[in-house]
Amino acid sequence: MTDILSKKLESKIDNKLFSKSRRKTLDDGFKKGKVINEVLDKPTVMTLYKIISDGIISYVNGPVSAGKESVLFWAVDKNENDIALKVYLVSTSNFKKRESYIAGDPRFKNIKSGTKNLVYLWAKKEYKNLQQSFEAKIPVPKPLHVSNNVLVMEFVGINGKPSQLLLNSEVDENDYSQALDMIKNLYSKAKLVHGDFSEYNIFKTENGLCLFDLGSAVDLKHPNAIEFLKRDINNINRFFSKRGISTIETNEIMEDLLDEL
Ligand SMILES: Nc1ncnc2c1ncn2[C@@H]1O[C@H](COP(=O)(O)OP(=O)(O)O)[C@@H](O)[C@H]1O
Ligand SMILES: [Mg+2]
Repeated sequence: MTDILSKKLESKIDNKLFSKSRRKTLDDGFKKGKVINEVLDKPTVMTLYKIISDGIISYVNGPVSAGKESVLFWAVDKNENDIALKVYLVSTSNFKKRESYIAGDPRFKNIKSGTKNLVYLWAKKEYKNLQQSFEAKIPVPKPLHVSNNVLVMEFVGINGKPSQLLLNSEVDENDYSQALDMIKNLYSKAKLVHGDFSEYNIFKTENGLCLFDLGSAVDLKHPNAIEFLKRDINNINRFFSKRGISTIETNEIMEDLLDEL
C-alpha cells in the first residue's frame, strides 16, 4: 500500500470508528484522537475496522478505562446495545509474565512465540474462559467475538459507564456467598480457576455479582491450578473479612470443593 493510500484509509477508519459519537472528551478526560493515534497501532485499527465491516459492532463510542496492558472501549451494535471492547495492547505490553498462565494449559499446547502472537493468544484465552464460564451459567459478561487482540463482549453497565466494582460497593453476607459460589462453580462446572479473583474484577450490579477479567483463568489441569485456587479464595476472604463479614477458612473451602469432585 502506498503511503498516501494508507494515510487515507487510516483517516477513513478514524472517522468510521468514531463517526456517531458526539462528545469530544469522555468523563476521564481522554481525547479520542489521542487514544486512537497513540494507543492503538495500525493493525489494531484494522482489526477494529474489520469488526465494524463484519457487522459485529456499528461504531466505537470511546475509551472507558485504560490499563497498562489493555484499553476498554464502549461500542454499540446495530440494535443499539452497548458493547465492551477489550483491546489488548501489543506495543506497550509486558506479556512475558503471562506466559506461565498459558504454558501448562492443555487447551493451548502449540504456542507460537513472539509478543504479538502471545497477546493474540491471550485475547483468545480470555474469550474461551468467558465462553466456558457463560455456558456453566456463572455470571460473566457474555462473550460475543474475538479477533486478534480485540475481545468483544456484553457491556456491564449503563450509558458507557461500567457497573460499580465490588471494591467500591457496600457488601453483606449474601455477596460473600455469591463470591464463593462463583469460585466453586468456576471450578466444578467450568473447570477453571480464575487466577486473579478479587474485588477489582467483580462488578456488583442490581442483579448480583458479575465476574470479569478472565484472561488469567486456567484449566484445572494447569500445574498451578490448586495454588491459584487457594490464592483466589484467600483474596476474597481477606476482602470480606476487612469489611466485617465472617468468612470460612480457606482450607475448609478448598477441602469441600476438592472432595466434591
Ligand atoms: N464487560 C465489561 N463491561 C463494562 N466495563 C468493563 C467490562 N470489562 C471491563 N470493564 C471495565 O474495564 C476495566 C478494566 O477491565 P479488566 O478486564 O479488569 O482489565 P485489566 O486486565 O486491565 O485489569 C474494569 O475495571 C471495568 O471498569
Ligand atoms: Mg482487572
